[in-house]
Amino acid sequence: MALLLHLSDVDENRWAERLGEKLGDYPIVRRGDDYDPADIRYIFVWKPKDDAFDGLDNLKAVLSLGAGVDALMRHPHLPQGVPIVRFVDDELSQCMSDYVVANVTMHHRLYTRYHAAQAAREWTQLYPPPAWDINVGVMGLGVLGQDALTRLRPLGFNLLGWSRSPKAIEGVTGYAGPDQFDAFLGQTDILVNLLPLTPETKGILNYATFGKLRRDVLKGGPAVVNPARGGHQIEADIVKALGDGTLGAASLDVFEVEPLPRESPLWAISNCYITPHVAAISNPETGVNYFSKVLLDHEAGKPLVNVVDVTKGY
Ligand code: NDP
Ligand code: OXD
Repeated sequence: MALLLHLSDVDENRWAERLGEKLGDYPIVRRGDDYDPADIRYIFVWKPKDDAFDGLDNLKAVLSLGAGVDALMRHPHLPQGVPIVRFVDDELSQCMSDYVVANVTMHHRLYTRYHAAQAAREWTQLYPPPAWDINVGVMGLGVLGQDALTRLRPLGFNLLGWSRSPKAIEGVTGYAGPDQFDAFLGQTDILVNLLPLTPETKGILNYATFGKLRRDVLKGGPAVVNPARGGHQIEADIVKALGDGTLGAASLDVFEVEPLPRESPLWAISNCYITPHVAAISNPETGVNYFSKVLLDHEAGKPLVNVVDVTKGY
């Protein structure tokens, strides 16, 4: 029995050291080590290469460092029938909510307009409405969407949420499914995307979507905040919508291609706020506690937690 680490583009050494401290005698191996693939019961992955799962015939679970598993779902050789456990963590949720609160409040307080006025040395007094007049609509009411709503609620915003299945969340007007999407958009001034990337949600942040947002409350137009996945957004549509006033502003943490290419027009748009996929990163300190507990509990016969529903893709 052993745990195999297959972490690309992150400091695998650091994870190996910390997991070693937590897992005690449980063997940990890394790519390049001399091991028998048949001994691997768990594989811990981030951006797994095409051959990552080759020969792993006795896998009990795939552990995903990412909270989002869209890339894993597209892996050409993802083992069938092996449960996938994704990262769910208080610190990750708090960091994501910090990002959402910062960007929502920035758009509520018409930051784009004041920033432009400052650049022009103009004393322009605009009066943002009180938070209770602003409707914040969150797409995706899972772990992160619900946490963000919890943090936004004390600020006084009027809250709306949209999910696949209906949800009853205190203080949140709920909408569900494609039939209620337009009604949700029509009431939303600041749209926050916390959906997983699936075939159904790909490209959902497009020009038609932006055109359906409520237009009469936020001066300068509605705003979009996307810290979920770049595949949710059509960047050419964002450029167009920010240029013609369909959108007043956008905050983007994720992009169709990452790193965002230097030639992307998004960089130069003053009402587009770019961060480099940093809204919420998986912290090794809390991650090690989480994944070692998942593995040891499972070895002790307890059920896995936060298992991905592969039929839904999240
Ligand atoms: P969850 O799986 O907990 O929640 C997903 C939510 O989306 C659920 O409410 C689900 O509905 C809803 N949903 C899924 N498909 C649809 C659909 N077709 N129509 C309407 N609603 C839908 O995910 P998390 O909250 O943990 O994470 C969300 C995403 O955030 C991740 O997938 C990842 O892409 C991104 N992320 C980004 C990070 C960053 O640093 N930028 C860091 C971490 C995550 P229902 O409840 O009915 O199932
Ligand atoms: C994640 C991410 O999905 O960092 O965890 O984007």
